[in-house]
Amino acid sequence: MKQHQIVIDVNKCVGCGLCSKVCVAHNLEIKNKKAGKVMDSCIMCGQCSAVCPKEAIALEGFDDCQIEKTEDIRLNPDAVLHTIRFRRSVRNFKKTKIPQEVVDQILEAGRLTHTAKNMQDVSFVVLDKEKDRIEKMAVKVFKAIKPIADLFSPMARNNKINDSFFFFKAPVIIIILAKDKTNGILAAQNMEFVAEANGLGVLYSGFFTIAANISRKIRKEIGIPKGKKAAMTLVFGYPDVKYLRSTPHKGLEVRYM
Ligand SMILES: Cc1cc2nc3c(=O)[nH]c(=O)nc-3n(C[C@H](O)[C@H](O)[C@H](O)COP(=O)(O)O)c2cc1C
Repeated sequence: MKQHQIVIDVNKCVGCGLCSKVCVAHNLEIKNKKAGKVMDSCIMCGQCSAVCPKEAIALEGFDDCQIEKTEDIRLNPDAVLHTIRFRRSVRNFKKTKIPQEVVDQILEAGRLTHTAKNMQDVSFVVLDKEKDRIEKMAVKVFKAIKPIADLFSPMARNNKINDSFFFFKAPVIIIILAKDKTNGILAAQNMEFVAEANGLGVLYSGFFTIAANISRKIRKEIGIPKGKKAAMTLVFGYPDVKYLRSTPHKGLEVRYM
C-alpha cells in the first residue's frame, strides 16, 4: 500500500490558520506564522489541502489529482425531494445496454462517497459476462434455505425463487464491497442518485447481498477479500415500467426535544 502523508510547503504557507481550523484531528498548528503537523499520522481526509488558499498543503500517496472547484452548483431542493418521492425500486427492465460512460459515472459516485474515519474501504464488482452464472449460484443457495423461511413467513411461502429472482434480467449489476457496511450503503445511495439522473431504474438486491455473504462459493467466485463483506448489490437498467403516482408512506415520526 502506498504511504499517505501530508506535505506542507512552508514557503507557500501564509499562516492563515484555515487548515488548522478544519482539521478534525487537531493535527495542524500555526507556529511562527507557519502551519506544521503535530503527528505524521491522521485520517488523511484532505480538508487541510482542500481549504488552503495558497496550495501549500499536498497529500501524497493517493491515486487521483485534486480538482479545483471553479463554480458553485447547488441542487434544487424541490427537484431533489421530487426525485426521492418518485423514485421506485424497479424490477422491470428494457434489454437496452447501459453505456460504459454511465456505468463509469455511477462507479465514480461510489468511489467519491465519504466513509467513516475516511476509511475509503469501498470497492466494486460489476457483473457482466458472469451475471447469469452467479445469479444461478444465489438461486441455489436460496432454494436450499427456502424451506426454513417458509416455516416462519407466509410471504416467503408465496414467493417463487425463479432464475431471475435476484437480478430481474437487468443489464448491469454492481456488488458493493466494504469493511464497514454503512460505508457501502452510503455509496449505494449516491450511486442510485447518479443512476436516476441518467434515466436508469435501480433495485437494491438485499437478497443477493445475503446470498453473497452466506455462501462461501459465491464469496470466492466474486472475490470478496478477507475483512470485507458485500454491503449492497445494485441492479441497474432502463425501466420498462412507468409509475404514475407516488406510493403511500407512514406519517412523519419525529420528536423535537
Ligand atoms: C436495503 C434494501 C434491500 C432491498 N432488497 C430487495 C430485494 O432483495 N428484492 C427486491 O425485490 N426488493 C428489495 N428492496 C426493495 C424494497 O422492497 C422497496 O424499497 C420497498 O418495497 C419500497 O418500494 P420503493 O423502493 O419502490 O419505494 C430492498 C430495499 C432496500 C432499501
